Amino acid sequence: MLKIIGKKAQNIFLLTSLLLAGSKAVAQTNDTSLPKLIEKDGRHAFLVDGKPFLILGGQAHNSSAWPALMPGVWKSVEMMHLNTLEVPIYWEQIEPQPGKFDFSLVDTLLTQARQHNVKLVLLWFGTWKNGSNHYMPEWMKRDAEKYPNITGKTGKPIDSPSPHSKATLDADIRAFSAVMLHLKQADTQHTVIMVQVENEPGSWDTVRDYSAKAQKLFEADVPADLLKPAILKALNVPVNTKGSWQQVFGDRADEYFQAWSIARFIEQVAAAGKAEYPLPLYINVALRDPLTNPPATHYESGGATDNVIPIWKVAAPSIDLLAPDIYLSGSERVLKVIDLYARADNALFVPEAGLIADNAKYFYDVLAHDGIGFSPFGIDDNGDSSNDEHLAKGLPPFAQEYVMATPMMHELAQWSFEGKIKAVVEHEDGAEQTIKLGTWDAVIKFGGGRGGELKPNQDHNGKAMIVTLDENKFIMTGTNCRVTFRPTGSNTGKAWQYLKVEEGGYDHGTFKSLRILNGDETDWGGPAIGDKPRVLQISLVVR
Ligand code: DGJ
Repeated sequence: MLKIIGKKAQNIFLLTSLLLAGSKAVAQTNDTSLPKLIEKDGRHAFLVDGKPFLILGGQAHNSSAWPALMPGVWKSVEMMHLNTLEVPIYWEQIEPQPGKFDFSLVDTLLTQARQHNVKLVLLWFGTWKNGSNHYMPEWMKRDAEKYPNITGKTGKPIDSPSPHSKATLDADIRAFSAVMLHLKQADTQHTVIMVQVENEPGSWDTVRDYSAKAQKLFEADVPADLLKPAILKALNVPVNTKGSWQQVFGDRADEYFQAWSIARFIEQVAAAGKAEYPLPLYINVALRDPLTNPPATHYESGGATDNVIPIWKVAAPSIDLLAPDIYLSGSERVLKVIDLYARADNALFVPEAGLIADNAKYFYDVLAHDGIGFSPFGIDDNGDSSNDEHLAKGLPPFAQEYVMATPMMHELAQWSFEGKIKAVVEHEDGAEQTIKLGTWDAVIKFGGGRGGELKPNQDHNGKAMIVTLDENKFIMTGTNCRVTFRPTGSNTGKAWQYLKVEEGGYDHGTFKSLRILNGDETDWGGPAIGDKPRVLQISLVVR
């Protein structure tokens, strides 16, 4: 079943024809409907201007969204070949006096993004920024009594805003609603495609708020919404359990209470913003180790870490997706995170990842999980637009993927939505991996050179992505890898060969061949791709 996430579809006819059209015929339209997320059979697509869109993104540093700094940001945007810039907007700048709004920086971003032909994801640095309140306006920072922080277990003051403060909630609702209303009026062409509400909400240094007000709520009964059997089951609690937070959730009670409290606060901010202008909204998450189930004292408590996703989904229905910020390392860990956040009820979007070469390979795995985009953090050099060394180091691994993806961005988004993309990324052991493709197995070896034994990749940065066009025809790309095929299923035991291997790329919806690869380029262990991604169209035949 097709579901439109968020507000009602504005153009059902267009969507239906798009979905019926199949992978080749991505809708050609001047659709002016709002950006929206759609879901079908548990997979997701992000429609921008009515077409499936893939965010080839990058995020500016926290303090770079000022006119004096933006030239450096745009330089990085160009070098990286982004189609979407993620950039903060600051509560302290937007509402310098209570109720007096200044949208000049927002307007500058809109104008400059249009000049650069780039979409924007705006990051509302509001009540929470990395668990603290550092972007609250000065008039709020000066009034701790009205806009309080939380209290730690021993009574220690914690550098984190209280989700139980009505005054803070009202102020954030007013400011965020004003931002969304302004966008509605100033951005009829939809330069802004999505908005992040707050930034990495949660609390460091305490698992929850222990103030008297919070303690009273903690000792009261768990709200009925959380006691539904499906939710309790998802949280590994016997159904029919009820009572106080401690009684229902035992040693996870503190964290779950904090997650619920923050998510309910943000829900009210998001719902008010959406009532003004229903763009897709998301929150980003400071992750926990997804492999070891650590206690919440080891990470930012109350954010939408993998263990509390069910709580966030119930508490904050106006948030369209929960998005992991990937700063963890190790392929097992990162792949697990991608698995955990790609859910039927959650479109996968990676709004931050370390700007390190290693991370470029995960872009492929995101596509294989019908992800809607990827975006490394800190693309500009934080004030120094002439530091080409920084740009030369960080950007190229991502830039070359975006250059590969740009001409077929709509196709990739559509294929991903239809579940046609599979990918493997090299693990630390460099071992070969198999992609199952119906009557074929694609065997991917990582490294360079010819023959059975390849020269290992130094940084384990090999990767491959294969799109199934039909039973015997595939699009493949990757880096530092070689592919060969094995007949399987009804093809098992048959002789086979390449019918045709073409190198080329997509151009306005069709594959354009530059050359046919044959001889040394397909013998010696199959077609190979080196440091730079290339796009191959591979047809196979059994004989
Ligand atoms: C994650 C946050 O969301 C970003 O704003 C930034 O602070 C990075 N961490 C670290 O540089």
